[in-house]
Amino acid sequence: MKTIPRFYAGADMPSAAMRHAYHHDGVLVIEGFASTDRCRALMDRVSELVAGYEPPERSSVFETEGQSHAADDYFQTSGDKIRFFFEAGAFDDEGAFVVDKEQAVNKIGHALHDLDPVFDAFSRDPRLAALASGLGLDDPGLIQSMFIVKPPRIGGEVNCHQDATFLHTDPVSCTGFWFALEDATLENGCLKAVPGAHRAPLTERFHYDETGSLVMDTLAEPAWDDADVVPLEAPAGTLVVLHGLLPHLSGPNTSEKSRRAYALHVVDRATRWADDNWLRRGDDMPVRGFAD
Ligand code: FE2
Repeated sequence: MKTIPRFYAGADMPSAAMRHAYHHDGVLVIEGFASTDRCRALMDRVSELVAGYEPPERSSVFETEGQSHAADDYFQTSGDKIRFFFEAGAFDDEGAFVVDKEQAVNKIGHALHDLDPVFDAFSRDPRLAALASGLGLDDPGLIQSMFIVKPPRIGGEVNCHQDATFLHTDPVSCTGFWFALEDATLENGCLKAVPGAHRAPLTERFHYDETGSLVMDTLAEPAWDDADVVPLEAPAGTLVVLHGLLPHLSGPNTSEKSRRAYALHVVDRATRWADDNWLRRGDDMPVRGFAD
């Protein structure tokens, strides 16, 4: 099994060794990026948001298998809002929560970084701006954010995918900044990835077709071997940077421990954003960078 080098956060980010690892593997693991207090601040803020959330008559269960949420307007219009998506196992047959409301959330997205001051400050860390430009983004724009809960026992798996499937630019520029807010282990569903496979082509695109429907198009067969998947266990505070073409996934959380994480996606505004991408923002919410 390939091994991924591990780095520790420091004043020099990205260092030459970090840049090399990122371009070689398509993934960069930096432990100690976010302090315990900063991780806790995000989780506490989410507790407040969830406490203030009242489920509408219809809620959107986010199921990564089958894209069954694709037709759901609640999801489709969430690109410039803060919206709540729940685990399939969170409800009984009558639609009532079978677990605590906060532990029923699959994820919250997709504009926390613009609409919530706590997430805004965390996301616009000057060290992230330095990493984005140091890793090759000329004009980084913060396009998407997700708080991912992966709750104990019911946290579902996320199938193998490339993030550029969902956030396409020409050329590909999507870059993921994934933060472990709690220890992510094999037991609670840590990230897994295929190092080096970011050199393979994009295999799928999730986009609007000419009829206005969201579709998943197959572009190429996966050129990587599932046997090359490596786990990316990450102690709380770790930042994992993911190239937009890097295949990655995560298993279900079968443990008693939650695996909360925050994922921020950045694209290069100097590239061409695909207008048929699923994610849409209102004219009053242009994509902002780290400092604008
Ligand atoms: Fe992803």
